[in-house]
Amino acid sequence: MARIAVVAGDGIGPEVVAQARKVIDAVLPGVDATEYDLGAARWHRTGEVLPDSVLTELAGHDAILLGAVGDPTVPPGVLERGLLLKLRFAFDQYVNLRPSRLWPGVPGPLASVKPGEVDLVVVREGTEGLYAGAGGALHRGTPAEVATEESLNTRHGVERVIRDAFARATRRERRKVTLVHKTNVLTHAGSLWARAFEAVAAEHPDVATEYQHVDAAAMFLVTQPQRYDVVVTDNLFGDILTDIAAAVTGGIGLAASGSINPEGAYPSMFEPVHGSAPDIAGRGVADPVAAVLSAALLLDQLGHADAAARVTAAVGVELAGRTPGAALRTEEVGDRLAGYATA
Ligand code: NAD
Ligand code: IPM
Ligand code: MN
Repeated sequence: MARIAVVAGDGIGPEVVAQARKVIDAVLPGVDATEYDLGAARWHRTGEVLPDSVLTELAGHDAILLGAVGDPTVPPGVLERGLLLKLRFAFDQYVNLRPSRLWPGVPGPLASVKPGEVDLVVVREGTEGLYAGAGGALHRGTPAEVATEESLNTRHGVERVIRDAFARATRRERRKVTLVHKTNVLTHAGSLWARAFEAVAAEHPDVATEYQHVDAAAMFLVTQPQRYDVVVTDNLFGDILTDIAAAVTGGIGLAASGSINPEGAYPSMFEPVHGSAPDIAGRGVADPVAAVLSAALLLDQLGHADAAARVTAAVGVELAGRTPGAALRTEEVGDRLAGYATA
């Protein structure tokens, strides 16, 4: 039986992860899940973010289910970099997979888009870019302050994520990959991405390709999200574009993701796109659908395609039955989803 590590984390993380676990237990009884106490509370208690011993233990699992990290009482970056990014980097989760679709019954904000018309997936590079480069500051706090952040792009890292995007496109109906970058300004990294993209595209004559600058892509995601199938992009552009994609398909509460190590050398991690939402944490009103759909991605990755399909179908029933604007209770949604998934 699959061994899953659960890192519920901060804010609404534990609230939504509890529902994801409820649904996993319903469709795959007896799954072996171990909770890891990581996040703001542990940092306050012990000063630890991610001890090496815990990292080693996590490495022994088949997958990780993560809620969210980050808390207003902890300096920015301590948990985001020290826990979340450290896991993505240590486990070489270079494919950050972020699907977006407009579900029937979900009132998207765009009058021009009908349910079923948006079905795209962003393949966001997960281990490089501005997230991984060197940086520094001089004369901090003075008028002479200088700060730098460097974007790291390797041919190996860029090509492997582009290959993954093309492989996904060949398994999809529309077979199209859009590269998003900013080659008109970021001429070093942009050129590397464009050349790697061209080389991989040449091996896939059956896949249609296009290129867009990230500013234009941000616009088209809002005006014409239907035009996208697979989007491949760097770490930071992918971060921003996937919040936009979430917003145009019914909101961040529905957006799931997988931080995937495709070779399976390390565990992949499944997490909602959203964060710890301190503004609503503790009230039991967070939408657990993003976490539950992330659990479906986890089940699929572990070879439980039937269980994953049942969870996804349950989300379809839940969303089709919602009244736009009506309040929701996190636990009640979890109970309903577990029920639909096993009906
Ligand atoms: P956020 O995603 O936490 O919240 C943005 C807005 O979306 C808030 O108004 C929030 O209430 C709402 N929201 C988020 N998830 C929701 C849900 N499931 N249901 C209903 N509403 C939801 O982003 P933020 O406010 O920019 O960041 C808060 C903290 O989370 C920060 O510390 C940030 O670093 C961290 N963060 C962590 C992750 C992660 O762990 N993967 C992702 C993003 C942000
Ligand atoms: C996300 C988050 C993270 C990211 C942060 C919290 C490090 O915004 O998962 O989208 O930027 O990748
Ligand atoms: Mn983000």
